[in-house]
Amino acid sequence: MEVIRAADYDELSVCAAEMIIQTLKSKNDAVLGLATGSTPIGTYKRLIEAYRQGRVSFAAAKSINLDEYVGLGENDPNSYRRFMNDMFFNNIDIDVRNTYVPDGLNKNIQQECMRYDMLYKRLGGADIQLLGIGVNAHIGFNEPADKLVAATHVVKLSQSTRMANSRNFASAQAVPEYAVTLGMAGILKAKKIVLLASGEAKREAVAKAVYGDIDTHAPASFLQLHDNVTVICDFCLAK
Ligand code: GLP
Repeated sequence: MEVIRAADYDELSVCAAEMIIQTLKSKNDAVLGLATGSTPIGTYKRLIEAYRQGRVSFAAAKSINLDEYVGLGENDPNSYRRFMNDMFFNNIDIDVRNTYVPDGLNKNIQQECMRYDMLYKRLGGADIQLLGIGVNAHIGFNEPADKLVAATHVVKLSQSTRMANSRNFASAQAVPEYAVTLGMAGILKAKKIVLLASGEAKREAVAKAVYGDIDTHAPASFLQLHDNVTVICDFCLAK
């Protein structure tokens, strides 16, 4: 795993954005694996800037997101679909019909998981996958557990994740209990993975991902099995 130490959040964002731009330069119809959370917001801002400057086009690109809350759809300001539209898709030239986020409103959520896996397969996986990391070392919504799941699946969110993600909700209780997430196989199928971590609170999780044992209780540690992972963090990993 390559670890890049960025001086600050802005440098981290520029670095991640440039990797995505490079991917699109070599393949204009690349499949971008995208993530939500506060960490990639700066990357999306930088990509929007680059698009406005004419440095990059997303017109032929496709995107596939990691996850969505069960029960939330585009009209809910806390849905990940809405986040992606507002923070990124509505500000670039991507065809929104080529952007995919699990449908949290599908009444048959198991069917939605199968549909999403088939879709991922049809797209051929992501050429570059952007990842954040939870303080408990989750990736996507693959939470620490005795067993991890390969396929797209419904997951019960841990209390710590609901707490961490409650920022925009009225309370931790208002955060949906369940989410749909791409499984470990989908994430590891990406040709290149870029994991972003900002702030000291993520240090322990990133250390587990980079140096720890491969452990289902630290899902990000499975990234060690992939041969093209870059971690960009704005803190020093070594204590
Ligand atoms: C959520 C998302 C993850 C993300 C994590 C960290 O749980 N499902 O994909 O990595 O939040 O979020 P943040 O970047 O806000 O710390």
